[in-house]
Amino acid sequence: MSMFMELYNSALKTVRDLALIKSGENILILADTVVDWEMLKMLASAAYSLNAEPSIMIYETREEVNVEPPKHVAEAMKSSDVVISLPLMYILHTNAYNEALKAGARILELTGMNPDMMIRLIGRVDYLRMCELGDRLAKITKDAKEVHIKSSSGTDLRFENDPARPVFHNDGILREKHVYKTLGGQISWAPIEDSIEGTIIADTFIWPPTELGVLKNPVKLRIKEGRIIEIEGGVEAKIFENWLRSMEDEKMYYVAHASWGFHPKARLIGVPLEDERLYAGIEFGFGSQSLKFRGRIGKARSHTDVGLYNPDVYFDEVLIAHGGRFVHEDLRELDKTLKG
Ligand SMILES: [Fe+2]
Repeated sequence: MSMFMELYNSALKTVRDLALIKSGENILILADTVVDWEMLKMLASAAYSLNAEPSIMIYETREEVNVEPPKHVAEAMKSSDVVISLPLMYILHTNAYNEALKAGARILELTGMNPDMMIRLIGRVDYLRMCELGDRLAKITKDAKEVHIKSSSGTDLRFENDPARPVFHNDGILREKHVYKTLGGQISWAPIEDSIEGTIIADTFIWPPTELGVLKNPVKLRIKEGRIIEIEGGVEAKIFENWLRSMEDEKMYYVAHASWGFHPKARLIGVPLEDERLYAGIEFGFGSQSLKFRGRIGKARSHTDVGLYNPDVYFDEVLIAHGGRFVHEDLRELDKTLKG
């Protein structure tokens, strides 16, 4: 074990400043077997030091994401005040997750987190400054009607936003019951499905399928009325296409959300929680769509995400991001503070 002091410090920041754990609360630290055991112990110890009642549950690593957890795990989730959800095979779109939220749990979603990530992405970032950038970016996103995304690798995609739909700044700070938040550094929203047209070149990561991750070769997705109509590329494109087909669910082909990444410390490492936060990057999700987005897709057999590297993003023809930096006038100063 290495950097144990830094890890404890980051675990303490996680339970105190993100999960906002209070004295006497029941805390469930939930993981599958691939998650680092020392990190779980650190989270439990940190929660215990705040006079909360932590408990760790670990179950088998499933072969796919969004498989229901064991029944007694689901029961424990439901009766917890706070769940810190770490399974790599995330359960975000399961009944167990929804039931726990309905029962009043607050869930901090940290799928696939490892000690290095916890130290870097939580311990060693000016978290509140990053959230300030996120708040501004969320406002700009909410105000945008027409979106155009281009990249040097060939992405050329247009869509429209519905002003009635919410834009979620996932700041990872659990202020209220009945909510889940993912780690800070991400904003997500559901564009108007029918309006999404063009080409996405996924060139950072695709996950799941679980045999993918960081991409060696780009994968080209042609999108018509919000649906993937063609997949082109090398071996990775074939694997992705076969996986989508194996789901036997039409909804797996539909864009469920668009997301910004803006974590200044995020690197492309092959863990989606970090990959999807690449600074000034864009991600698209396909398949299951959380109800909170108020979109048209709903629950599908599963969910997958694909990432775009350093795209040019235009909102109503104004350039917001370029070359991995935020260039919009309301963001430039914070961008400089965070990225130098
Ligand atoms: Fe997603």
